[in-house]
Formats: sequence, C-alpha cells, structure tokens
Amino acid sequence: MCGIVGYTGSSSAVPVLLSGLKRLEYRGYDSAGIAVNTGGSLQMVKASGHLEHLMERLKSTPLSGTSGIGHTRWATHGAPTDINAHPHMSNDGQFAVVHNGIIENYAQLREELTENGFQFSSETDTEVIVHLLEYYDQGDPKVAVMKAASRLEGSYALGVVCARFPDTLYTARLSSPLILGVGIGESFFASDVTALVRHTKNVIYMEDGEFACITPRGIEVFDSTGAPIRKTVSRVAWDVEAAEKGGYDHFMLKEIMEQPRALKLTIEPRIRDGRIVLDEFESFRAQLPNIRKVVITACGSAYHAGCVGRYVIEQLCRIPVEAELASELRYRNPIIDSSTLLIVVSQSGETADTIAALKECKARGATVLAVVNVVGSTIAKLADYVLYTWAGPEIAVATTKGYTTQVAVLDLFAVWAAEALGTISAQSCADYVKQLLSLPERAQRAIDLNPGIPALARQYKAADAMFFIGRNIDYAICLEGSLKLKEISYIHSEAYAAGELKHGTIALIDEGRLVVALACQEALFDKMMSNVREVKARGAQVLAAALEGNRRILSQADDVLYIPDTDPLFLAIPEIIPLQLFAYYMARENGCDIDKPKNLAKSVTVE
Ligand code: M6R
Repeated sequence: MCGIVGYTGSSSAVPVLLSGLKRLEYRGYDSAGIAVNTGGSLQMVKASGHLEHLMERLKSTPLSGTSGIGHTRWATHGAPTDINAHPHMSNDGQFAVVHNGIIENYAQLREELTENGFQFSSETDTEVIVHLLEYYDQGDPKVAVMKAASRLEGSYALGVVCARFPDTLYTARLSSPLILGVGIGESFFASDVTALVRHTKNVIYMEDGEFACITPRGIEVFDSTGAPIRKTVSRVAWDVEAAEKGGYDHFMLKEIMEQPRALKLTIEPRIRDGRIVLDEFESFRAQLPNIRKVVITACGSAYHAGCVGRYVIEQLCRIPVEAELASELRYRNPIIDSSTLLIVVSQSGETADTIAALKECKARGATVLAVVNVVGSTIAKLADYVLYTWAGPEIAVATTKGYTTQVAVLDLFAVWAAEALGTISAQSCADYVKQLLSLPERAQRAIDLNPGIPALARQYKAADAMFFIGRNIDYAICLEGSLKLKEISYIHSEAYAAGELKHGTIALIDEGRLVVALACQEALFDKMMSNVREVKARGAQVLAAALEGNRRILSQADDVLYIPDTDPLFLAIPEIIPLQLFAYYMARENGCDIDKPKNLAKSVTVE
C-alpha cells in the first residue's frame, strides 16, 4: 500500500527520493509527493495519479536541498487528490510528515487540534500528526515526535523533516514496516528494502515503539523513554538486479521465470544427507506429538498455498488440518489452545488481517510458525518460529514465486513433521525428499512443456468469464489459477470443486463458455473426465491440464496444458506455473497493466 522514503546526505535529495518512490510503486498507490529541506525552510510538491505527474510538476517547481522525505499514497481517508497526498505540512511551516498506516483516533485528535486553532487542509488521518508536532514543539523535534507519537492509536511508520534542522530526519514505528539505510556520508529510511538497495545494503530494522534521528553522520535509535538502543546493522542478501526487470517486459513474467531458482534456494539448503532439516524449527521437533490440530491462516494467494498445505500435511502427518482465511478466523472465536500449531503464511509479512489472526490465536495459546518471505517483517517478528521462503524480492502485485515457495515450505514441513511423528516410513520419507529436490527442475519443465500459451491466450482473449474446476489438490490449485487470472486480466473467473458443478454452477455453462479443467490427480482422472463431458455436452470449451504423456485427455479437451509427472502431493508447484503464464498472456492480450492491476496493492496493510 503506501510507501515512504527519506534521504539525508550530500547529494541532491529529489532524484534519490524519486528513485526510491519508483521502487515502491509496485506496492500500489494513487498519488505521490515529496518535501525537501531547502536549507532552513520546507518546500513540497505533490500530485495525484502516477509518479510521472509528480515528476512533471517538479520540472516546473524544482526543489533543491540535500535532505527530504517522499511518499506514495494509497487512499484510505479522503480521495486521491493533490491535497490529500503526503507530505503534510504544519501551519507554521516547520514540520512535514509522511506516514504509512492508519491513525484510528484521528477524529478525536482532529477535533481537539481544531479547538486549539489548527487549520486542516486535507481529509486525511495523517494530517493530525503534523499538527501534533507543531503543538508539542518546544525546540527539540525528537521530543515533539515522541510526544506526538504517544497520542496516536493505530499503526504508523513516520518520516518527519523539521525546517530548523536541515540535515536531520526523524522516524517512528508502530505496526508498520520501517527500515533505515546506513550509507557512507548519507542515510536513508524506507518502508521497504527495495527502495534502499540501490544505495546501501546495510540496513537497520526498526521495531515497534522505536524512534530514530537520522543524519548523514549516522543514525541514533531510541525507545519511547528516549533511551538509546544499540541496533544490529543487517546486510541485505540480494542485489539491486533482483529488484529490476532484467530484460523482461514485466516483473510478473520475470518472477514466473525465476521460480525454478527460487524453489532451489528455498528447498536445497533444508535437505542435508537425504533428510529435511528445518534449522529454525528443529527445537520444536520434540513437542510435535503434543499437537492435536494444525491451523493454517493467510489471505489471498497465501491462503491458497495454505489450502494445498492442508491436503499435504493431513495426508502425511495424519493430524487434522484446517486452512482458514485470516479475515474470517480473526472474528470467529476459534477453538484454539496450546495444542494447536498455527501456521501463518505471508509473502510480505505485513498483511493486516493475517497479523490480527496471528495475535488472536497466539493469545489463545497456539504455537505460531510463520512462513514468510520478507526478512524482519512484522509477522516474522510476532511468530514463535519462522521458516523463510527464499524467493527474493517480489515486485509484481500478482504473486507467483511467492506462492510456489510458500507451497514448497509447507511441503517440506509436511515431510519433516511426518518423519518426526513416524507417520511415514523411512523409505517413503527418502522418496518424498527426492521428489522435493526435483521440484525446481519440474518447475522449469512446466515452463518448457507449454510454449503454446501465448497462442492460447490469443485464442481465448475475448472470454468474459470462465470456470476453473478440479478435485483434491487440483481444486486448491484452481483457487489460485482463478485468482491469478482475475486479478491481472479483470476477466471474471471462479474456482469450483468439480464435484460441486451439478449443485448449481452448471447452470452457468453455455455455448462457448471456457472451462479450465485440472485433471492431474491420476486417481481422480476418470471422475474429472465425467465433469469434462458434462460441461462439453452443454457447449463449453475445455482447456485441460493433464500430466505429460496423458493421451486420454486429447479426446475430451479442446486444448491441453501439460504438467510434468510429479508425486500427486507435490503437483501444485509445477501445475500452477502454466496457469500463471496463461493469466499473464491473457492480461497482456487485453492490454492490462500487469504489474500494477487496478485497485490492488502488493501489501495489504489495512483491514
Ligand atoms: O503478503 P501476503 O502474502 O500476506 O499477501 C496476501 C495477499 O494479499 C496476496 O497473496 C494477494 O492475494 C496477491 N495479490 C495475489 O496475487
């Protein structure tokens, strides 16, 4: 959602801020702005719409200075207008602020500040912060920031500039990501590492309740009493190239193609001498027999990964497994106690509903294992244990390598836990480990086997609605295939358990309707063929997915996507890849903004 960035050093601030904001575009936004300290006074330029509008405006109103703050806004309080865009400035012109998050008590604060004579110009919740800064300003901006923050309820990552201190930036964090960049003679802050790696790979992850003063000479972090905190400087593990398109037209296509490598990085280091070793979770091995139930919770595609995980874990470990949307679980008064293992799945580690469900279940005594991609994210911090997906930065809003690496970690967990619980034999365990090691290669094969997908997209591009049907894990994959298609191509699509067709949906099947039938579970192949015949009999066109070498499918389907032969439990990884490509090329044929689909944000940090 929103993105923030700050710079102080000896270079001109505007290009650094703009390049940072450019890298945060993928999070989703609808207006942008920057404020620069021009040596004793603050000036800002803001514009609704794309960053290009802001850049145009900066040509006619150039800002010069070596420190400043920037923001990309995804509107929550007030329309995406120039006035509502951040930064916001105090009435006396001393402070400007950028903010990610939501101030829940902004209405009371606004009333109070208005009574005290402050003039509001925007409809945003954020504007209360900058007036609080002026209200509490008695000379030291650090104190004003701490006092203002103590009045805020909700979530925030704040970046503040003060006119009187031209080379200093101030930041504060509560439940919204904030990372500081340590350079040589320059310092940075951002909501996301991707905005920093071009300048420095040395970063400090801010924790909730922490504040920082940032100058070109260094960074001081302190707690809510003002006491200094010694922070570790971490090294970002990936290069700037990882956050660039590298010759592909879209990040999404690059990320689809990166899957074999991302899977290798996620799986291989966790297999040693033919056994799965989950370093970060090994200390829990002895407690596994006490677990009576596994609950997997997440949102969107991460939830779909959880749906796959449910089949695999239950099948191998013989423990009841529930997969539930975090937005539902958090309000359900669930039966969860210390015998529950809660697996929380999230690429960003910042999804608001997922965080809330995690907190709710933790409070009831569950042990929390997080499967997360972004190092140092909120979910990673809140969980008892973390298994990282080593997918690297995922920029496209539509997740691809994020999803497959989540599935890979859940698969690893399932085999590891089954071995620990003794629910599979040593021989089966060795066979599963071999299968897991082969998944990166099978992912590549899934790409190589289907060069005809762009042509299929040309053929089907005019479809206005379609259905994805499948059974068992194929059904879980339908959920993700359907979401991928609708979120980037805007074509209406629905995923159905094939056995449910006759209970209602078949009424919607008519002449020419496209049905994507996933028929890769050999044990259920004949059942799927019955469903395919039923929809064909009503005039549907069928695009099927079947295992490589399956010739029986040819007599039933109009077109076929081939999936490399894989153990049925681990099919999700190779099987989703052609569906990701199909969604990509359908969106491309329809001229959609693939990496930044309308109305969507990469990281959904508000409910
Ligand atoms: O960062 P998370 O994995 O927690 O995000 C969850 C969903 O918002 C995310 O998977 C969303 O559904 C994607 N746009 C799907 O491509």
